[in-house]
Amino acid sequence: MSYGEAIERTLFTSDEIRRAVERLAAAIGADFRGQPLLLLGVLKGALYVTADLARSLSLQKDGPSEIRIDYLAVSSYGNAARSSGEVRILRDTSENITGKNVVIVEDIVDNGHTIAYLAGLLRDRAPRSLRTCVLFDKPYHRQASVTLDYVGLTAPDAFVVGYGLDYQERYRNLPFLALLRSWVFSE
Ligand code: PRP
Repeated sequence: MSYGEAIERTLFTSDEIRRAVERLAAAIGADFRGQPLLLLGVLKGALYVTADLARSLSLQKDGPSEIRIDYLAVSSYGNAARSSGEVRILRDTSENITGKNVVIVEDIVDNGHTIAYLAGLLRDRAPRSLRTCVLFDKPYHRQASVTLDYVGLTAPDAFVVGYGLDYQERYRNLPFLALLRSWVFSE
């Protein structure tokens, strides 16, 4: 069976996502004009948005003076559909973030536990500044108190896949955001 048969509907096309990433880059670029910046992507989901954001930022004439990229890996969902609030660090940053301008980059924020936990953890390491950036916001079931400084798009209150987001490790590589057909979940 082809990938396409599992997809119910495209929610945001790759063009719409590209434009949202460019808007995020413009906002971040304006705030960090002439300053060095570390983009800290949260794996695995933020793999694509972090890379595309970094490339979009590097094209800006008056953006940050230097862009570094690092990743950390966490697991909050496992294979469950909603995160439990328990966040585990699977891989920490390789950069020392003390004294740096750091933007945490997430693919999605749902109940907010993951980014709230990470922001607390990273703040304790005394970065010069710490901001949060999310491509797809799902604000419907927030449990943790979080400030999202840069928000790309609002996703519907549904299980979405693509552009980094998976269902049981599949569909991350889709270049668009999509809804899956219901039979996929009972396979
Ligand atoms: C997803 C996503 C965020 C988190 C958001 O990660 O990438 O990190 O869930 O959920 P929350 O706001 O409800 O805490 P996941 O644990 O699925 O890992 P993955 O990125 O490796 O798929």
